[in-house]
Amino acid sequence: MFDKTVYIRRRRTLLDSMREKGQRGIILFVGNVDAPAQYKDNCYNFRQDSSWLYYFGLDEPRYGAVIDIDSGEEVVFADDVEIGDIIWMGPQPSVQSKAESVGVSKSAPYGALEGVVSKALSIGRPVHFLPPSRYYNTMKLASLTGLSHEAVGVVDFTAGKTEHASRELVESVIAMRLIKEECEIEELDAVGALGQEMHTVARNAVKPGVLEQHIVGLMEGVTLSKGWGVSFATILSQHGETLHNHLHDKIIEPGKLLVIDAGAESNSHYASDFTRTLPTGGKFTQKQRDVYQIVCDCNEFAFSITRPGITYREVHIETMRKMLEGLKALDLVRGSIDDMVTEGIAGLFCPHGLGHNMGLDVHDMEDLGENLVGYDPDQKRSSQLGLGSLRMARKLVPGHVITDEPGIYFIPALIDKWKAEGTGKGFVNFDKLKSYYDFGGIRLEDDVLVTPDGARRTGPNRLPIFPDDVEAAMAK
Ligand code: GLY
Repeated sequence: MFDKTVYIRRRRTLLDSMREKGQRGIILFVGNVDAPAQYKDNCYNFRQDSSWLYYFGLDEPRYGAVIDIDSGEEVVFADDVEIGDIIWMGPQPSVQSKAESVGVSKSAPYGALEGVVSKALSIGRPVHFLPPSRYYNTMKLASLTGLSHEAVGVVDFTAGKTEHASRELVESVIAMRLIKEECEIEELDAVGALGQEMHTVARNAVKPGVLEQHIVGLMEGVTLSKGWGVSFATILSQHGETLHNHLHDKIIEPGKLLVIDAGAESNSHYASDFTRTLPTGGKFTQKQRDVYQIVCDCNEFAFSITRPGITYREVHIETMRKMLEGLKALDLVRGSIDDMVTEGIAGLFCPHGLGHNMGLDVHDMEDLGENLVGYDPDQKRSSQLGLGSLRMARKLVPGHVITDEPGIYFIPALIDKWKAEGTGKGFVNFDKLKSYYDFGGIRLEDDVLVTPDGARRTGPNRLPIFPDDVEAAMAK
């Protein structure tokens, strides 16, 4: 947890922002509750809601809070433990003292939330809340507000409609959480170091004959022993052409490419997210190296043009241009690069976006609405394969933390579909692509902070990325 002044300042900024938007009424926050894995006393590892953590810091289940926009009063709602809890959990500080530890002077039992919300609604005061990320909170908010659970979960707001989460609150929260504070950047660097350690342990374990799951266990052990765990389900696969392959049931075979996309989550719940692609036998074949070098050049190129003032949409498009130049040199595509950029030909090889926001969530705040988080009001999301999957398109400003993760994948079903439908005809060398059907995929990802004069990568020890360096690291 940060010093309480951090939470006091953030809530003050939020209140000011809501008032500047002309809003009245109350802001209702609900933290997460424990989620049973099988029965109520055997729960998944508790993970607090990220917006709750941002404004209230208290990392425990069954908390709520109300901020009164008109009076500025703040109240935290939670239950003090009883003797039955103390027997199983040991003595606990009071809710009041926990509320004070984050600068809130008033507390009340969790059940009192209902009366506060219904009283506000009964006299026509607006109740502002964020779209919930968890199903329990969806039901809780529906019950507190009297809205349907479908309405409570809405993240794509229709102009003029008000019977759902508060667009003004969502926009205020996004504006704040998008720009990382110094104390957050320290956390992101620290968890970057942990994520890099995970990847180093994994790389050292890769050799033919080893089970993928064994490597996953070793790398996840690193973050479990020093942090909260993984920031998302680890992707480790010799079938990297399946973008999010969570199966780890194969034996490492020689001559393959192993995509490892994994990150750590710190005890303070900040995320890291790195991807490296390794030759399973320690050395790239020439064919693998040729494609790897294009992805590596794209990763470097994207970073080199990332700076305040450019949009990440432009960075994505220019990086895809670079990718097409590399693919053209391999005679996998032919023709005018400009035309191919316009036609979205890169989407056949890289059907995902260049990157996403990162912070307390690995895809930061996407529970609040992917387009609201990743797009400026004057930007419209493309429907093209690849560009349409870009989750962060905004004009960059210092404090944005984003991923830089180009990839090239040879997805037989997608290539077959384009060929059958005539998509990319005249540009894509479908004949040559036939010999790439068993190639797999390559993705290379770093985490990047936008600085006042450019950008820097987070985490202190950039993982080897240039092909010679990767081979040298694997030979150790
Ligand atoms: N690195 C996993 C993801 O971005 O979804």
